[in-house]
Amino acid sequence: MCGIVGYIGQKKAYPILIKGLQRLEYRGYDSAGVAMISTNGNLNVYKAKGKVADLETFCEDKDVSGSVGIAHTRWATHGEPNITNAHPHYSASGRLALIHNGIIENYATIKENLIARGIHFKSVTDTEVLVQLIEHIMLSNDLCILEAVQVALHQVIGAYAIAILDCEHPDTIICARQSSPLVVGLGEEGDFYLASDASPIAEYTDKVVYLNDGDIAVMQLGKDLIVVNTDNETQHPKVKLIDVTLGQLEKGGYPFFMLKEIFEQPNCIRDCMRGRINVEGNRITLSAVIDYREKLVNAHRIIIVACGTSWHAGLIGKQLIESLCRIPVEVEYASEFRYREPVIFHDDVVIAISQSGETADTLAAIELARRSGAFVFGVCNAIGASIPRQTQTGVYIHVGPEIGVASTKAFTGQVTVLSMLALCIANERCTITDNQYKEMVAELTRIPAKMEEALTTNEQIEHLSSIFTYAKNCLYLGRGYNYPVALEGALKLKEISYIHAEGYPAAEMKHGPIALIDSEMPVFVIATRDKLYEKVISNIQEVRARGGRVIALVTRGDEQIRNLANHVIELPDTFECFQPLIASIPLQLLAYHIAVCKGKDVDRPRNLAKSVTVE
Ligand code: AGP
Ligand code: GLU
Repeated sequence: MCGIVGYIGQKKAYPILIKGLQRLEYRGYDSAGVAMISTNGNLNVYKAKGKVADLETFCEDKDVSGSVGIAHTRWATHGEPNITNAHPHYSASGRLALIHNGIIENYATIKENLIARGIHFKSVTDTEVLVQLIEHIMLSNDLCILEAVQVALHQVIGAYAIAILDCEHPDTIICARQSSPLVVGLGEEGDFYLASDASPIAEYTDKVVYLNDGDIAVMQLGKDLIVVNTDNETQHPKVKLIDVTLGQLEKGGYPFFMLKEIFEQPNCIRDCMRGRINVEGNRITLSAVIDYREKLVNAHRIIIVACGTSWHAGLIGKQLIESLCRIPVEVEYASEFRYREPVIFHDDVVIAISQSGETADTLAAIELARRSGAFVFGVCNAIGASIPRQTQTGVYIHVGPEIGVASTKAFTGQVTVLSMLALCIANERCTITDNQYKEMVAELTRIPAKMEEALTTNEQIEHLSSIFTYAKNCLYLGRGYNYPVALEGALKLKEISYIHAEGYPAAEMKHGPIALIDSEMPVFVIATRDKLYEKVISNIQEVRARGGRVIALVTRGDEQIRNLANHVIELPDTFECFQPLIASIPLQLLAYHIAVCKGKDVDRPRNLAKSVTVE
């Protein structure tokens, strides 16, 4: 799940490539590298272990002239993150340089064959196999680079987005995709941009082509874009317009994207509801529900597939849909669903939730669902990504690009969309009264203002985080709608501060985790006023009785818990089913401040990447 960037045109390529890598660094930061055709025709490759900034330092005294280049930021799958394994990889003769996002599954067999033919490998990556294979095919069959790529890709099994430079054809970049994303930007002056997503392209052009699986694109100076497949049949992808603003891609004065994204949530949720909730604030219109009314309203069962944070949003979606629409819902980890031969009926509705729209496991689950005849509905953020293109219909969450690796605004955007979806379906099915429907829609429109209120806890949480920075373990407890919030709070802490944390249904604690509780263990309890409130109070008592330290998230004005817990964080009241939209905010802030106190790189946590395009 690395990031790929490319440029060919009249401008200096190096600054465009570096800026593009910085925008894509969320996808991986094990190493970074660039390959450029210099003004004197050399194919130079420069690489550095670590982040893009390390590459820039390394390149300070290098020849980075030229207006043609490709660049890569890596999230290692095959081979440790060192300079040798960093991309771009040269071919044996040094004529080609290639970057790759994905996994070549049959690399070992191909490598064995090439070694038997005397080809020497420098790295242990699956990627190097591809560049050696292409060159070997090209030289031994006297083919041009495009033909060699086509033959090679016929032999390759796996996922890839690749870009190749050939120093004998310095006016051309060739790229191809299969199951990993790739976008070509069409510049004003006949120049071409290439990237794993539209963010590195947005400041130069708004015209893009999203390549499809099997596409091979040839970007040649002074020529139109050519797209063919591996059988050399011409493809006709559509030119689309992107509407990402530069402000959305920059930190806007915040020290980290994550903090910016946490604070953006009230406006993101307004954007998410804009045009969907009427001005009176009492009706929701989702075109997907109008267009596919029969399928959705008459569904006998809904299966939600997702990973990580999106899976947590799915757990909230389940409760919303079951309680409002009275349709049974199952929530599955996409990675498990795809391999366990699930029973899928052709009248099932499968909802795939994904911020990036590129998660490999979720894509595979969608494919399985479609093969079984189910109707697939997407809830995505990244416009034009693979998941929205492979689902029959869906709803974008419209929260703008999320760059921090730890998902925040996408989570609340997903929950908002699932709330709107559940309300629309419930209204159509008449499983709630018109009054209930209108009251709930009205409350949903009040959520952004309540989120603003929840954000005012920032200073208090910053202070609390300094107390808990050195905790070794943390427990997060919640019930009902707040149980997924507990899971999400724990995931945030694990991801960016590397503290072990567990989310648990509060009542389940006594069946095991209670053994962990001692005075060293902070226990974060989401104890807002809802129908399980009294029960949660008993759970808090159980923790306190064992010397545990309780930090409770409570509804404003709650004196009972104030007298019981060690610390309370007060939140605005809302309907029980919308509580996750408010209660997740202080937990995001908590994880953020603890990670900052520990000196961690919040936006680029170790071992993680934003978009998990490998299995
Ligand atoms: C969230 O903080 C994570 N980094 C991760 O769990 C993420 O939610 C998961 O990989 C799914 O991604 P997606 O929503 O882009 O499919
Ligand atoms: N499999 C390749 C490697 O490990 C590419 C990984 C990626 O997509 O980031 O180098």
